[in-house]
Amino acid sequence: MTEFELKFKDLMKSKVKLLDHIMNYIVKRKGKQMRPMFVFLSAGVCGGINESTHRGAALIELLHTATLVHDDVVDDANYRRGFFSVNALWKNKIAVLVGDFLLSRGLLLSVDNNDFHLLKIVSNAVKEMSEGELLQIAKARKLDITEEVYYQIIRQKTASLMASCCAVGASSTASTEEIILRMREFGEKVGMAFQIKDDLFDYGDDEIGKPVGIDIKEKKMTLPLIYALSKADWFEKRHIISLIRNKSDNKKAVKEVIDFVKKSGGLNYAKEAMHRYYEEAMVILNQFPESEYKTSLSALVDYTIERKK
Ligand code: IPE
Ligand code: IPE
Ligand code: MG
Ligand code: MG
Repeated sequence: MTEFELKFKDLMKSKVKLLDHIMNYIVKRKGKQMRPMFVFLSAGVCGGINESTHRGAALIELLHTATLVHDDVVDDANYRRGFFSVNALWKNKIAVLVGDFLLSRGLLLSVDNNDFHLLKIVSNAVKEMSEGELLQIAKARKLDITEEVYYQIIRQKTASLMASCCAVGASSTASTEEIILRMREFGEKVGMAFQIKDDLFDYGDDEIGKPVGIDIKEKKMTLPLIYALSKADWFEKRHIISLIRNKSDNKKAVKEVIDFVKKSGGLNYAKEAMHRYYEEAMVILNQFPESEYKTSLSALVDYTIERKK
């Protein structure tokens, strides 16, 4: 990861002063860097880390960073990684362009090194992520989301990139198609658990470095709420939906929705779903031979569902 960070920092440079300044700001407030860890450990499990594994890890973190910069514009969020988001400090116009710069920086890194097999895996995830984010917006407008559609959204917006991390790691070691596919599936399960955990954070009041309670404010209905609504009677359901539709910017109304979800057992239901994905991921991982990489990868999956931010 030390080597990774040096390379990543180097890739973020620009001759345009304003852009370089913003890139420095982003590099200083690094995230958990779970995705590059998934790339490296997946490569390790499948045969060993090499130069193209390093480029794959950088490619994925660049794209991830790009999507976060754009996501904060989409979600109108002013807080990220414990500090102001790019849009909060430099406005939406600049955040859109910064996201595009990061994305193109990643694409060029692959093209310049003929990593087309990695680029193909990751480009598919980028397409999925845009679709997932748009589907989420469509459902927030109509407030008619089902559990099935929720899973489709998180599979596309989050799990697809985690799946790519593991597929890229495997692919960088010239694994067989079958192994790459298995690692992809492993990453997808981890990604599902990861996003359910992220959606649970929104119901807490812990300091996680980004806003909480923002999902309901943005009319984003996640698993705890979807479950709670499915258990409510017609009258209560109509009342809660009307709060979300008409009063989502009122703190008291949001609190009422949160209390309703807690009282209905929505949080426990989501935790159980998260654990099911966790177990499914572990079943796949356990098909691989023992190694120190596998031990670390398994610890990283544990961290995915136990993390505090
Ligand atoms: C945040 O991902 C975006 C989601 C898919 C929920 P992370 O929680 O991995 O973000 P950083 O990189 O650690 O800030
Ligand atoms: C995750 O979406 C971001 C992407 C997958 C692009 P969210 O909006 O749920 O994530 P946070 O909570 O802002 O990190
Ligand atoms: Mg979002
Ligand atoms: Mg967001």
